[in-house]
Amino acid sequence: MLPEFHLPLSAETFLAEVWQRKPLLMRDSARGLEHPDPDTLAGLALEDCVESRLMTGADKGPWNVQQGPFTAEDFAILPRQNWTLLVQSVDHFMTEVSLLLDYFQFLPGWRLEDIMLSYAVKGGSVGPHYDRYDVFLIQASGQRRWKIGPHCDDHSPRLPHDQLRLLADMPVEEEFLVGPGDVLYLPPGVGHWGVAEDDDCVTWSVGFRAPAPADLLARLTDSALENADQTLYSDAGRPVAQAPEQLTDTDMDNLRDQALALINRDALRDALAGLLSEPRQPAGLDFDIDCGHIAAAAPDTVLVRHGATRLLIDNQGHAWLNGERRQLSSMEKPLVALLARQRRYTQTDLQALMNDQSATLLEEWIDAGFFSAIE
Ligand code: SIN
Ligand code: CO
Repeated sequence: MLPEFHLPLSAETFLAEVWQRKPLLMRDSARGLEHPDPDTLAGLALEDCVESRLMTGADKGPWNVQQGPFTAEDFAILPRQNWTLLVQSVDHFMTEVSLLLDYFQFLPGWRLEDIMLSYAVKGGSVGPHYDRYDVFLIQASGQRRWKIGPHCDDHSPRLPHDQLRLLADMPVEEEFLVGPGDVLYLPPGVGHWGVAEDDDCVTWSVGFRAPAPADLLARLTDSALENADQTLYSDAGRPVAQAPEQLTDTDMDNLRDQALALINRDALRDALAGLLSEPRQPAGLDFDIDCGHIAAAAPDTVLVRHGATRLLIDNQGHAWLNGERRQLSSMEKPLVALLARQRRYTQTDLQALMNDQSATLLEEWIDAGFFSAIE
């Protein structure tokens, strides 16, 4: 079967009371997470374009991290206990994993970042830490003991380490033992420490995209400057200067407003939609989709979106496909809206939306590898 997740409460309640606010343990809320197996995951960590880490350590340390790509020998010399392999953006490389994201439609697609998978032997963990992003930690196999701490920030005491930001003393506020299908939601900043209770402990982390306002401003400025004309500052009707030696607040506000006027609706949309439709790992497109697995697990599927394809639409009739803008005709829009909303499509989904123009567009996107027909 394909991976599934169902919120055990209404999306409205989740967003009003839990999202970005507090941890929530959701027992038995996911299934279909048997694939990929640990060997397949380790195979991904051998690839140059895949981001992976090996963490060793337990209890009070010492902690060690090694960045991938790895070799088979690296895995052969690992100790019996206390290590974890983490592979980032597995959804970009294995489209069948990305299909889990269709169960997060209570949030806009641009807010999703990627799915990281971890594989741990008994005692393995990444140590006590906090993340800056929301995360759904989905237990796929084995058992893990989660210790949950308080909200942390840059001032929280850390263990001395060159590469790792581990918490020095994490008071434990809650503790859960989770098994396959259990899901732990954590908002940004909450301290946590999950230790594998047995071998073959696999956890999927659905992580969210939260662009830094400073990065957004840089993109907005670039986009505004691309379209800016050479208009100069104007101040017709200004009052007589009372203190000509001063740069006044009123003048500063006028100068700022005229500069910010360059960030108009068009510049805003081009910058944000361009940025937010960029996949984290564009190289994922080079990895073939395992159509056989999808066909066997979901026989009604006739088309899938590649896991490394990000598609958004804006309210001006543009599609944004992996950072690139394309104007859509009215004949293409309904199909593209569906392609952007979900990742897996049945014949019934597509039927009413196909016409000569939309079929040609889809053909082009299939040829370029952004989508794939399932035989
Ligand atoms: C893990 O999967 O081992 C760790 C994930 C996390 O703590 O964020
Ligand atoms: Co974490």
